[in-house]
This record gives sequence, structure tokens and C-alpha cells, in this order.
Amino acid sequence: MSEAPKGLKKGLTNYGDQGFSLFLRKAFIKGAGYTDDALDRPVIGIANTGSSYNPCHGNMPQLVEAVKRGILLAGGLPMDFPTISVHESFSAPTSMYLRNLMSMDTEEMVRAQPMDAVVLIGGCDKTVPAQLMGAASAGIPAIQLITGSMLTGSHRSERVGACTDCRRYWGKFRAEEIDDEEIADVNNQLVASVGTCSVMGTASTMACVAEALGMTVPGGASPPAVTADRIRIAEQTGAQAVRLARQGPGIDKVLTPAAFENALRVLLAIGGSTNGIVHLTAIAGRMGIDIDLAGLDRMGTQTPVLVDLKPSGQHYMEDFHKAGGMATLLRELKPLLRLEAMTVTGRTLGEEIERSGPGFAQDVVRTLGNPIYPQGGLAVLRGNLAPGGAIIKQSAADPRLMEHEGRAVVFENSEDLARRIDGDELDVTADDILVLKNIGPKGAPGMPEAGYIPIPRKLARTGVKDIVRVSDGRMSGTAFGTIVLHVTPEAAVGGPLAHVRNGDRIRLSVKNREIALLVSDAELARRAAANPVAEPTAERGYAKLFLQAVTQADKGVDFDFLRAPRSVGKAPE
Ligand code: FES
Repeated sequence: MSEAPKGLKKGLTNYGDQGFSLFLRKAFIKGAGYTDDALDRPVIGIANTGSSYNPCHGNMPQLVEAVKRGILLAGGLPMDFPTISVHESFSAPTSMYLRNLMSMDTEEMVRAQPMDAVVLIGGCDKTVPAQLMGAASAGIPAIQLITGSMLTGSHRSERVGACTDCRRYWGKFRAEEIDDEEIADVNNQLVASVGTCSVMGTASTMACVAEALGMTVPGGASPPAVTADRIRIAEQTGAQAVRLARQGPGIDKVLTPAAFENALRVLLAIGGSTNGIVHLTAIAGRMGIDIDLAGLDRMGTQTPVLVDLKPSGQHYMEDFHKAGGMATLLRELKPLLRLEAMTVTGRTLGEEIERSGPGFAQDVVRTLGNPIYPQGGLAVLRGNLAPGGAIIKQSAADPRLMEHEGRAVVFENSEDLARRIDGDELDVTADDILVLKNIGPKGAPGMPEAGYIPIPRKLARTGVKDIVRVSDGRMSGTAFGTIVLHVTPEAAVGGPLAHVRNGDRIRLSVKNREIALLVSDAELARRAAANPVAEPTAERGYAKLFLQAVTQADKGVDFDFLRAPRSVGKAPE
């Protein structure tokens, strides 16, 4: 049997004559000055997501240069190519709406262009999951390079960073504790350099998760964007990509149920973003692996939060890096990890932990015996309000509110919220439960990070800092509060959330993992019959595709046709 084509001979454009197709391809690429010697080497694609609209990827030129150096030193041929880049603040209506489009772009360009392995460079929240989803589906050897976190800034001698401090200062401004001049000063300091958000938000979460999955070189998660360490990681990543092209392992040997179990374990131990669950579910789905929410919740009861980073703790990503980064965390978590999981280095996670050495004294990663929070950061809730599950980040919640029953104050959608939340006439007390509908996958659409419902201004003025909030949306990983998210099924497809009314009683019990609407089934059925929900549709374009194909939060908000056709396992196993 003849060997599968490699390098430039892969995936020839079809002109009906393979020899001619290769002849033509070489002629064109030689137009860029390449020699036959260069073109005979393993071809390593580099997914370049640099964009003026994406300052989280602002170090892309330096990273691409270093990756190319690593590839050339290891004997490969680097070929960078652009894909969609998605930044949180420059993606209307919401970046999540575009994650699947970016994953399709990545998958199809990796498949369409000849490459023996691919380096995926991403960092901002949706880019790493989109790239991992795309590469998982494309099926060639792949390695993730993270752009790295931004540096922290200083506001009047106080250390600040995006975006937990963005929210904190905006809250102070809303509560009229600081004036226009000070909020403008803060605005200059929150993002002190290019790179991703400096707290344990979604970007940092996905960086740690990517390393836990075995998809980065060891130490790839934590170096800040503008450091020499980050550039060295980029060079190593390029060199490793050439080894991947020559001898594997393929992505199917890395993204296994054991790897996803490790990623979930790390997600819990870092007090990671709730978005991490949605993204991991989507990436796993591309490999035919189901994330078992009940199993995740069981893991949560055995996994303490160890990493002391905002918003659950006090430090920033650059401190985590100085404390040894993921090596320090993985060493501590070792008894709870699947050490046999393979990584892109060709060594197992257990072997990489051994190679990382004994560690040193530091105060960012706690020990299992002295955690930040005794249980995992995330808990999975169920009940008649969320038959398909809901999520709460308990490590960022107010302990006084985690067992709470209150009166529902309902907002029908984001516009309704914006119109009424700050009005003095809003009938609300600190004991109520704010409910926001129609910000789920189809509702908004794209499941925006609007689940962090602001404290009504009349309560904020009296010093109220937290209130129970419930929605079918997501929340930024940098936010905090007693906030129930991802209520499934969402209101826009007729989930029970659609039929909650002002004055209904809702019970939240994190201890019992319950989110209950204290309204009878018969009454809910009567409301559903009286006000049937019409699912949103669109007439054309990506919006039409999105609304037809997007799945609910428990399926990763991926498109149904992008999931692997067959299930091959689940995580945790
Ligand atoms: Fe890009 Fe926060 S906006 S990581």
C-alpha cells in the first residue's frame, strides 16, 4: 500500500491530473522564492490570528516569528495563514456567536491547505476553544500556542487588571462612589499591555485547560504576552510541531477521555470560568466524547480550589507564572490526575510532571491540605427550573446567598433589563432573585455574557454588593456573585424559564445542587399553553445557520452538524 501523501503533496487541488496539480502548486509557491529543498520538508501550518481588532493577540508578529524559528531549527517549513480572530469587545452581538464560525474556518483551512502539523496561536476567550474544536475535527497533529496574559497596571498605587477590576470600578462608579475623572483614569490603567485578561477569566482558564489537555508544550499556559518566556515557548512550540509531524502523536491520541478528565479537574482546581465547561463540552463533542455534568459535579466535591487568582482569590496570571505556573498546580493535583494521558510532547502528563522537578516555595498555588476553597469552583444545579442543568461558580458566590429562597423579579430580555434595572420604581429588595430570560444560545442569539446582571442602582446605592441572579446566559470568567447561569433548556426554546413570572418563589440550594421554581407542574403547563414560545429564526446568512443548528449549553453550544458522528466515550469515565 502506498504511503499517504505528505508535505506539499497533501490535499492537491483537483484538476483531474495529480502530477499537474503538484507541478502547478510548486510553480505558484516558487513565485514566493522557495527552493525545492525548502519545499521537500515537513510543512507546518501556523494559524495566525493577528488582527488590529484583537489586542489580546497584539504580540502575534513576535510569536509567529519565534514559531517559524523553532520550525526551521527542527528542519520543517513554516507556512503561516490567517483565520478569523475574535475579541470579546469587538464582536457584536457577542463573541460566542462567532466561536463556531472561527472553528469552521480553522477546520476547513487546516484541511484545505497542505500541512503535516499545525500550530494554533490563540489567546482571547473564544479563540483557543474555536481552534481546538477546529483542529479536533480536522484530525491532523496539532499544538496550541497561547498568546499570554497582559501585564497588570496601577491606579493610584493600587494594582489593577482586566477584567475583574473593570467590573469592580464600574460598580463603584454606578454606586456613585467615584466620579467621572477617576473612572477615566482607571480606564487607562486596566489593560497595561497587549495580551489576554490578567485574572482567571475565560482566557486564562482556557490556557490552563489547553495545557491540562496535553495540547501545549509544558509551561505553555502562563507566561505573560510580553515576556521572553512567552517567546521561548513559541520557539519550542514550533520545534515540537515538527516532531509531531514526523512521529506524532496525532490529536486523537491526545484528546482522549483521560485528557478531558484532567482538563475538568484543572478547571475546578483553578476556580476557572464557567465558560470553560461549555467550551470543553464542545471540544470533546468534536472527538465524540460526552462531558458528564453529574460526573463533573462529583469531581467538584473532591477537588478543592488551589489557585489564588482573582476573581476567586487575590493574584494575577503573572504571579501564577512566577509561582511556576501549571507545573506547580499539576504537581499538587497529581493524586487526582489521570497520569497516563498522552501530551503533544509524546510523553504522558505523569512523565511531564516528573520532569518539572520538585517545585519551590510560593504563595499562589495552595496545597491540597490548605485550599482557597474546599470544593471545586463550579457546581452543577438541577431542578424544575433547569431540567437540563445549570451552573453556579460557588467560589465566586456570597456564602450567605447559596441557600436562599426569594421572590422572582423578572426581566423578559436584555432590552427590558436595560430599560428598568436602574429605575427607582423597580420593585426589588436585596432578598429577591433577579431572573433574566432570552439570553441563551438562540435567545440573544449567541448566549452573551449578560448573566452578570447588575445590582439595581437603588440597591447598589444602599451598599448591596450581591443578590441571587438566574439566567440562561453566560457570565464573563472575570465576574463574581451568586449567579446561576446556563439554565437549560433556555427560555427561547420554551424551557421552564420562559414561564417564570414576577412574584414566583425560587429556591436556590447549592448544598442540594437545586434550582427550583416553586410553582406546580400544572400551573407551568397552563402558562405554557396560554403563551406558547415561538423559537427565533433568521431569513438568511450565518444568523440562519446559527439559529437552525446551535445546540443548548449542555451540548457545548456547538452546531449539531459539527459534532463527531459517533460517541466514543465520556469524561469523567
Ligand atoms: Fe481578550 Fe479578555 S478580552 S482575553
